[in-house]
Amino acid sequence: MTAAELLNKYIKFFEDRGHKRIAGAPLIPQNDPTTLFTSSGMQPLIPYLMGEIHPEGTRLVDAQNSFRAVDIEEIGDNRHTTFFRMLGNWSLGDYFKKEEIPWLYEFLTNQQSGLGIDPTKLHFTVFKGFEDIPQDNEAYQIWEEVLQKAGVENYKNRLHWYGVEKNWWSRAGTPDKMPAGEIGGPDTEVFYDFGDETVHKKSQWGKQPCHVNCDCGRYLEIANSVFMQYKKTADGKFEKLPKQNVDFGGGLERLLGAVEGQIDMFQTSLFKPTIDIIERQTDKDYQTYKSSFRIIADHLGASCLIIVNGIKPANKDQGYILRRLLRRAFDNFNLLGGKDILPVLETIVDQYAETDPIVKVQYEEIKNTILEEMQKYERTRHEATRFIEKKYQQPLHDGDTREISADDAFVLYTTHGLSPTQIKSLGYSFDNKIFAHKMEEHQKLSRSGAEKKFRGGLADHSEKTIMGHTATHLMHQALRDVLGNQVHQSGSNITSERIRFDFNFDRKLTEDEIKHVEEIVNGKITENLPVHFELIPTQEAYKMGAIGLFMETYSEKSKIYFIGDISKNYKDAYSIEFCGGPHVDFTGVLKSFKIIKQENLGANLKRLYAIVGK
Ligand code: ALA
Repeated sequence: MTAAELLNKYIKFFEDRGHKRIAGAPLIPQNDPTTLFTSSGMQPLIPYLMGEIHPEGTRLVDAQNSFRAVDIEEIGDNRHTTFFRMLGNWSLGDYFKKEEIPWLYEFLTNQQSGLGIDPTKLHFTVFKGFEDIPQDNEAYQIWEEVLQKAGVENYKNRLHWYGVEKNWWSRAGTPDKMPAGEIGGPDTEVFYDFGDETVHKKSQWGKQPCHVNCDCGRYLEIANSVFMQYKKTADGKFEKLPKQNVDFGGGLERLLGAVEGQIDMFQTSLFKPTIDIIERQTDKDYQTYKSSFRIIADHLGASCLIIVNGIKPANKDQGYILRRLLRRAFDNFNLLGGKDILPVLETIVDQYAETDPIVKVQYEEIKNTILEEMQKYERTRHEATRFIEKKYQQPLHDGDTREISADDAFVLYTTHGLSPTQIKSLGYSFDNKIFAHKMEEHQKLSRSGAEKKFRGGLADHSEKTIMGHTATHLMHQALRDVLGNQVHQSGSNITSERIRFDFNFDRKLTEDEIKHVEEIVNGKITENLPVHFELIPTQEAYKMGAIGLFMETYSEKSKIYFIGDISKNYKDAYSIEFCGGPHVDFTGVLKSFKIIKQENLGANLKRLYAIVGK
């Protein structure tokens, strides 16, 4: 079974059980400043899990391209990848545990309708309770019934209780880490046992007893059903969401590992061709250099998917992550003595094209971006060397190691973007302790910035961000009025402080044009137009001229926001846009609108910052 076949089987399984397939959201989240990448299937569905109506109904299924930057440093083991496809099914206040658990079991184990995984390899974990949130006896009993019915011997040995550390899921982690407004719930997880005890003995956990949720790598988490029912309140307690939801996520790559009984994710049919071509291009053997091989395969793959989302290597935000991924991949490729990286890239693109054909369509763009970054990286290394040589006044000879101050090493880190390992690879050594201390200070500073950013995010659904959201619809239409209908949004980011809006346009806006856009938006605010949404067949919505980023390939119906009174004719609306919401009810709430800055992002990409409600 290929990855694409597995994906299709999953979608069909849930379609046959009344689910609507929805398109995965872009890897770069829209309207959510709290996170740089989409990192789980539920992320684009948060408003609906919180109670908004979804245009496709209450049973949804999809495959969501996901990226977890926090895992970058973990890459190198047998199971972590930064980029993965999360298979997801959701009940938005529809079915609950007694449907979800038997379906999940059937999908994993059934030979015809599912993956045919041997049940005696599986273990199941259930939430044992925490403070006011009760132990999940219901899920436990359902598992007992399912396993008994399936004739699994000694099934009780396959059921395990765990607390909040393991069987609670929210984007922020355990309940104490969740900010006010964040949603979460207890979950039940499925683990695949590769049965190899030596894995545990050889791991850093070898001295402790192994268990199903151990991090040694013997057991692999392949499925997670979250019973999403709670929202954290401002006083640190939990209140029930309006409806009980199911949020299921299973990593496609890991499920494939379980189907193939392959403990090493990088030896599954998905990664094997890439590993083989790296062996050929470097003349090195995978078994000896596993970690470097895995880093190259993972990082280049993730980079391809990030690049097709319009991101270029840069020094901040997503561009910075892309730069880190690429430079780490180059370092490891060089370390192995690799010559030509292009055959590796071509193989990776072929692999991912099965599920994401866009990587093939945009291969030239991917290739040029990567080759350009390779040259830039070379230049950076060269400049860094010149900076140090000038300062220390002596050329470095091949094989020499020069001791430089931790301060200078830190300059190479902050201004040239070189990591400690990369600095060392240039032939410099420095005091690691002082460097680590400087790094800690630096991270403290950026963390406090990030926390500020989090508090202001749309995820909190604060009044101010909702106002900003409605203002972007008005601004989008006003820009088209002033600059022409070729203008369309390419991204946005809204905090309670300001709106950021990206769109395609080939030159700087004049002061008059900016003033004109402001006047139009302020005019619509003064008119106090009603804002509301309707669920409309997607094709019809396109015919109506609805604009926006929503590319619902699979959806029959879409949620469309109208600004203006359309009781007589939809053409009376000032703005018609694909959007998940939420929005204010009347534009008058926005009070006023002002553009405060414009930036040039590239030849055909401009960015505006604006404020609202002052
Ligand atoms: N939201 C859950 C996860 O990401 C399913 O694991």
